[in-house]
Amino acid sequence: MPDGMDVDYDGLIPNNVGLAQDARVRKALETWHPGYIDWWRDMGPEGFQESLVYLRTAISVDPKGWAKFGYVRMPEYKWGVLLAPVVEGRRIGFGAHKGEPAWQEVPGEYRAMLRRLLVIQGDTEPASVEQQRHLGATAPSLYDMRNLFQVNVEEGRHLWAMVYLLQKYFGTQGREEAEDLLRRRSGDADSPRMLGAFNEATPDWLSFFMFTFFTDRDGKMQLEALAQSGFDPLSRTCRFMLTEEAHHMFVGETGVGRIVERTVEAMKEAGIDDPTDVERVRALGVIDLPTIQRKLNLHFSLTLDLFGNEISTNAANAFNAGLKGRYREDKLEDDHQLTSSTYPVLRLRDGQPVSEDVPALSALNMRLRDDYVTDCQGGIGRWNKPIEKAGYTFRLQLPPVTFNRKIGEFAGFDSDPARLPTGDDHEFIDSLMRPVMEAGKYASWIAAPKVGVDGKPGEFEYVRIHG
Ligand SMILES: [Fe+2]
Ligand SMILES: [Fe+2]
Repeated sequence: MPDGMDVDYDGLIPNNVGLAQDARVRKALETWHPGYIDWWRDMGPEGFQESLVYLRTAISVDPKGWAKFGYVRMPEYKWGVLLAPVVEGRRIGFGAHKGEPAWQEVPGEYRAMLRRLLVIQGDTEPASVEQQRHLGATAPSLYDMRNLFQVNVEEGRHLWAMVYLLQKYFGTQGREEAEDLLRRRSGDADSPRMLGAFNEATPDWLSFFMFTFFTDRDGKMQLEALAQSGFDPLSRTCRFMLTEEAHHMFVGETGVGRIVERTVEAMKEAGIDDPTDVERVRALGVIDLPTIQRKLNLHFSLTLDLFGNEISTNAANAFNAGLKGRYREDKLEDDHQLTSSTYPVLRLRDGQPVSEDVPALSALNMRLRDDYVTDCQGGIGRWNKPIEKAGYTFRLQLPPVTFNRKIGEFAGFDSDPARLPTGDDHEFIDSLMRPVMEAGKYASWIAAPKVGVDGKPGEFEYVRIHG
């Protein structure tokens, strides 16, 4: 048995799960591979499949050095199956089976529940690639284009991660699910992706950065909860995915941050005291702060819907079963079974949001969402720094969790369209989406990054467009 540290990087599918000795699963993955490449060519980054992109590829699961950088054509990217190393003697940390040794095989009674969790997580990974496929053509720099493609290939790898688990542990049903993951399409009328936010368009780069900040962060929360799983292969898979996920949120946070920075700088130079003087700000070729706020409102609210209903028996069942824990369950100090504790949930009572204590087991979605909101808050604070420093009183902020909701307690409660991006906003943002493809140059509406990728300078040619 491999201990999970050595990566076999020679075959078609780099892996540390001993595929060379596992003929059945290797064959299943090799059979799935051509369909995946077809999907990538059809639905992956449009127009740049032959470009050489300076990408990181996971080649190890050693936290001290797990990736290498180099020029790659995306269809030739080495999508591998990598699990975090085995933790000797790991035990289930929560739920009805707390304290029992972690499962190396799927417990029969939880098969259907586990399969569903894998499919839902798996479905989000290719969906975001599909949503972002047109963005290369309007990249504000080669640096940003490269970051987009990095996120895209890693979401592709996350799909591989889920497909491996389906094929390894779920036989014929798993193979069918793996095919279906390539068949559904973001935004398709007949065969859409499973979750709402993954069927929305990502029409421009402000949306892309908001998406990677807000929606990839939902991904992080879900992976953190699944990393606690008593089903050890899922836990190990998610732990390694989280290593990559951090970069996606970095792209989002610094992307919006650089837009804000540039807007503030341009306003200062032009002597504009009022950031809400939209016409004057836009005339400078930068994105006004109120428009950034409306985009933020949209992406935050779409993402909150991904956490599902505030009160959920599915979440309670998955926790009891030991399949999906809370955010950083292993760091929490309680009985990890929650049979007698309560948790405050925001509910609609007589037309008003009211906090109500409910059994903690039924409030697990709400709890994960609360942890998510706290996690978002830090980034918003950093976005506000340059605004504050320049002496403006305007602040970006999260809208109330009750705003623009389609799922849960507050569905339809408050959807004031004035706080969402307008047609006019989109038209203006569109007018700015002109590609900048000269190394070291940046579009008018975004500041250059503070540091490059892999210690490379800003003027490095992160994408060789013509290969
Ligand atoms: Fe992902
Ligand atoms: Fe991601």
